[in-house]
Amino acid sequence: MENRSFVTIAEQSKEKILYLLEMAKEFEKKPNRRLLAEKVVATLFFEPSTRTRLSFETAANRLGARVIGFTDPKVTSSSKGETLKDTIMMVSNYADIIVMRHFLEGAALYASEVAPVPIVNAGDGANQHPSQTMLDLYSIYKTQGTLENLNIYLVGDLKYGRTVHSLLMAMRHFNPTFHFIAPKELQMPDEFKLYCDKHNINYTESSEFNDETIADADILYMTRVQRERFTDLMEYERVKDVYILRKDMLEHTRPNLRILHPLPRVNEIAYDVDDSPKAYYFQQAQNGLYARQAILCDVLGITLDEVKADTLK
Ligand code: CP
Repeated sequence: MENRSFVTIAEQSKEKILYLLEMAKEFEKKPNRRLLAEKVVATLFFEPSTRTRLSFETAANRLGARVIGFTDPKVTSSSKGETLKDTIMMVSNYADIIVMRHFLEGAALYASEVAPVPIVNAGDGANQHPSQTMLDLYSIYKTQGTLENLNIYLVGDLKYGRTVHSLLMAMRHFNPTFHFIAPKELQMPDEFKLYCDKHNINYTESSEFNDETIADADILYMTRVQRERFTDLMEYERVKDVYILRKDMLEHTRPNLRILHPLPRVNEIAYDVDDSPKAYYFQQAQNGLYARQAILCDVLGITLDEVKADTLK
C-alpha cells in the first residue's frame, strides 16, 4: 500500500507543493468542514510545542475529526522504556493519522517505515519541520504574490534551526537567492550548503546584521537561538542575543518586505517591530491552520477536487 506519510520536504515535488498551497487556500476560504468526520488524529509530542500542536489539533477539529495524544512523554509508557516502534504500533491501533514531534533526527522517517497509518512529521530534532515549511511557503506566496526569484534572508540559528533547513530545501524549485546571516558558531551546516550547490541555489554567507545588509530583502526570516539544542550552555550565553531586529532597521527596506519567524521568539525581534506592517509572524502562525488542514487531508488521500467540491458544513 502507498505510504502517504508527510516526513520530509525534500521529497515533495514543485507540483505537489503548489497543489497543497492551493488546497490551503480553499481551507482559508472555508475552514469548517466535515471531511475528516469519523477519523481520529493522534498528536504525539515528545518535545514542547504551542503552535504546531494546537494548529494541527485545530485543523483536525475544524475538519470534524477527533483528537487523541500527549504533550509530555513523561506521562506515557515511553518513560517505562517502551520503544518508539512499540508506541507507534500501539497508537496505529487507535488513530488514522499520527502527527509526531520527536527530539531525534530521523524519528519521523523511522516511524513512517513501521506504521500502518500515515505519519506527519511535526519536527524531528534539528533535522526537518516540513509542515512549518508549508505554512512558510503559503505566507511567502500570500505576501509576495509569487514564490519565484525572491531574496530571502535567514537570520540567527542556522545550525540547529530545522525550519530554515526545510525552507531551503523547498525553495529549490523557485530560484531563490538566500542570504545566511549567523554567528560562526551557528552557521548553516555544510550539508545544506552542499544541497544548495547541487540544486543551483544561490547563497551568500555573512555574520553582519544591520539595516544595510537587509536593504534588498523580500523576506527576512528571523529565528530563535535554541537553548535546548546546546550541550555547552556557555556557548549559548555567548550567542543568544547576537542579532536583534529593531524597528529603526526597517526604515530603508523594500515596501514588499515581510518579516517571518516560526516562533516562539525570545529576544531576536524587538516588540516595537510588531506594529510594523512588515511584521507578518502572527499571521504566518495563523496560516499554519490552513496549511495543516491541507496536509491532514492529503495524507488520507482526500484530493483538491474533493475539497473544492465539498459544500457540507
Ligand atoms: N513554529 C513552531 O514549531 O512552534 P512550536 O514549537 O510552538 O510548535
